[in-house]
Amino acid sequence: MQDIEEILLPEEVISRRIQELGAEIEAEESRDELTLLILLHGSVLFAADLMRALTTPVYLEALRVASYHGGTESSGTVTVETTDLSHLQDRPVLLVDDILDTGRTLKRVTTHLREEVGVSSVRSCVLLDKQAQRAVDYAADFVGFEIADQFVVGYGLDYQGRYRNLPFVGTLKPSAI
Ligand code: IMP
Ligand code: MG
Repeated sequence: MQDIEEILLPEEVISRRIQELGAEIEAEESRDELTLLILLHGSVLFAADLMRALTTPVYLEALRVASYHGGTESSGTVTVETTDLSHLQDRPVLLVDDILDTGRTLKRVTTHLREEVGVSSVRSCVLLDKQAQRAVDYAADFVGFEIADQFVVGYGLDYQGRYRNLPFVGTLKPSAI
């Protein structure tokens, strides 16, 4: 792909790690059901592969959350779509997101699930963790890969809506930004 500077995580590396994540989740979440609440749109590819790496019966829910508004810097405001999640009351939820950056998104959604929906437990699984950018106190329970402080695209992650369909995670050439 001409706009890609460097491939950080090739397809096979992602795929192998997701199998391991599935096993890690099942070792800790010994339950007879689990609801994956995926954050749109970035986690779509990751969630599709992750749910096939689980043998626990899973339910799938999706929530639209936005914190980036077009550029490569987090805006600081997290907008959560108003969706009825009341059927998740007293049930275990696993939040699935593409990347943990400032932490505002997952912290906000976690608080919403605990305090307003009243789920029985909430944990999170992210494909990528950019610890250097953390602005709030938040840690994911399951992390695919720790990455350096750089803007990445592919495997669900976008830049202005593009590049989500790349099968790998990589960086963009400065000319593409
Ligand atoms: P947080 O609320 O700052 O943790 O933001 C998480 C969201 O920011 C992710 O779900 C992504 O949509 C977006 N994001 C953060 N870093 C990147 C990146 O490097 N590439 C693409 N999107 C990113
Ligand atoms: Mg996103």
